[in-house]
Amino acid sequence: MTDLTTARRSLFKAGGAALAAAAVVRPGSAAAAPDGHAKRPLGRRITFGADPATQVVISWQQLEKVTGPYVRIATGASGFGAPVAAELRTLRSELDWQEGDHSFPPHGPDPMYQYYLHARLDGLKPDTTYHYVVGHRDHDPATSTRPGEIASFRTAPTTASGFTFTAFGDQGHGYNARALTSLVADQAPAFHLALGNLSYAIHGGTANAEGGHPDTDTYDAARWDSLFAQNEVVTAGVPWMTTLGNREMEKWYGTNGYGGVKARITTPDNAWSGSTGIYAWRYQNVGLISLDGNDICLRNAANLDHTGGKQLAWLEQQLARFRGDPAIGFVVVYLHHATYSTADGGGAESVAQQKWAPLFDRYRVDLVLNAHNRVYERTDPIRAGKGTRQVGSRGTVTPFTDGTTYITAGAGGQALDRFYKGAPESYLDHENTGGTPTMRCYKKNSSSSTDTKVTWSRVRYRGYSLVAVDVTPTSMKVRALAADGGLIDEVTIKRP
Ligand SMILES: [Fe+2]
Repeated sequence: MTDLTTARRSLFKAGGAALAAAAVVRPGSAAAAPDGHAKRPLGRRITFGADPATQVVISWQQLEKVTGPYVRIATGASGFGAPVAAELRTLRSELDWQEGDHSFPPHGPDPMYQYYLHARLDGLKPDTTYHYVVGHRDHDPATSTRPGEIASFRTAPTTASGFTFTAFGDQGHGYNARALTSLVADQAPAFHLALGNLSYAIHGGTANAEGGHPDTDTYDAARWDSLFAQNEVVTAGVPWMTTLGNREMEKWYGTNGYGGVKARITTPDNAWSGSTGIYAWRYQNVGLISLDGNDICLRNAANLDHTGGKQLAWLEQQLARFRGDPAIGFVVVYLHHATYSTADGGGAESVAQQKWAPLFDRYRVDLVLNAHNRVYERTDPIRAGKGTRQVGSRGTVTPFTDGTTYITAGAGGQALDRFYKGAPESYLDHENTGGTPTMRCYKKNSSSSTDTKVTWSRVRYRGYSLVAVDVTPTSMKVRALAADGGLIDEVTIKRP
C-alpha cells in the first residue's frame, strides 16, 4: 500500500469526527449538503519559506468568501493532523479598472471580489514528503468526492545530494503556457522559479499597457485565477517561487501596485520588514536571491528606485553573507528584467548594468536568470560588462575566473519577441555567427534607446522554452528545452 493510499484511508477513517472535534465542521451546516461548486478549493500552490527544509506556505483560492479555512497535513500512515488555520485575503477590484467583459452579470454591476487563502507551515521535517488537504467550514475534504483532493510536497534535505530546478517567466494562461507547465512536471523539479509577468492580467498592445500606468493599462483580474487553475496540476506539489515583473505593478491596488500580488502570493520577503518579492533563501548548496527589477527599470519607470537604495544595499549584504556561508557553493540571482540581452521587447536595463552587475562580478554570482524578453538567450560569461571568452552549447564555465552567465528565459507562453536589429537565432546544432547582436537599453519612460553592438550573445532561440538546472555538489548543468522537450542549449557551470 502506498503512503498516499494509507493517508487517504486514514483521512476518511478520521472523517467528520476528527474535524468536528477540531471545531472545523459545524454540525448540521452546509458541509453535510451537496458540495457546491463555489465552495471547492481551487488553484492550490506551494511556496517555500526562507528555510525550505522546514517552512512551506500552502495557498489556494475560493470563488466565494469562506469561514474557517484550514490545511491538514500527513506524513504517511499516521493520518492527517489537526487543522492549521489559513489566512483569508480578500481582494476587491472596481469595475472601472477592468475590461468590458466584467461589466455584465455575473460580474457586474458589483466590484469583483477574489478570495485567496494562505496557510503557513513551520517546523516541518527536512527531506520529508507531506500529503495535505485544504478545506473550510463548508467543505470537508474527508467527505468530498473531488478527484485529486490530496496533494503532496517534499521539504528540502539539509545536505547537498543533488536536485533539479526549473525557470521561466512571462507565462500567462493559454495553450503554450500549459505546454510549459507540463514540461516543468516532466523535469520533476525540487522547485520552479517563476520569473515575473506571471498572469498577464495587465495586457494590451500599447507600450504603456505593461504595468504601472492605471490610465492606460488594460486589466482583467480574473486572468490571475485562470493562471492558478492552469498551473495547479504542478503547483499543488512543486514549490513555485515567484519574482515580480512590470505587469505585477497593478497601481490601483496601492503599495506600489503590489497590493494585488501580496493578496495572491506569499513569498519569503525576508530582505527587510515590508519588502515585497525581494528575498533570499538556500536550497542545498545553492543560495538564491529574488530581486525586484521594477526598482531599476527605466522604460516602465512607475516604481523606479521605489526602495530608495534599500534593495541595492541589501543585495550587497546578502551576497557577502552567501559567499561567507560554507554550505553554499553556487549563487543564483533571479528577477524579471534583463541585465544583459540583445532581444527586442523589453531590451536590457542600464541601471542593472551600472549598479548590480559590479556586485555580481565582485561576489562571483554564478548565474543570473531573467525573463521580460519573450525569447531564450544565453550570454558568454561576462565581467565588467565584457564577455570574457566564448562558451558555445555543451561548453563549461568556471565563474570564479570567467564571470557570470546571464540567461533570459521569457518565452513562457505569451507572444514571442524578436532579437533586436534582426540578429539570427543561434542554438544547439543550429549555430549562426551572422548578424550583429545589439543590446537595446531604453531611456526613462521612453521608446528611445541607446544601442550597443555586443559580442557576448552566444545562444539565441525564438520559441517557447524553459530552463532546467541540474545541481550537484560541484556543478550546475543548465539545460534549455523547447516546448517539445528538445534540447536547444546546455552549459555546465563548475566550481574551481
Ligand atoms: Fe516584462
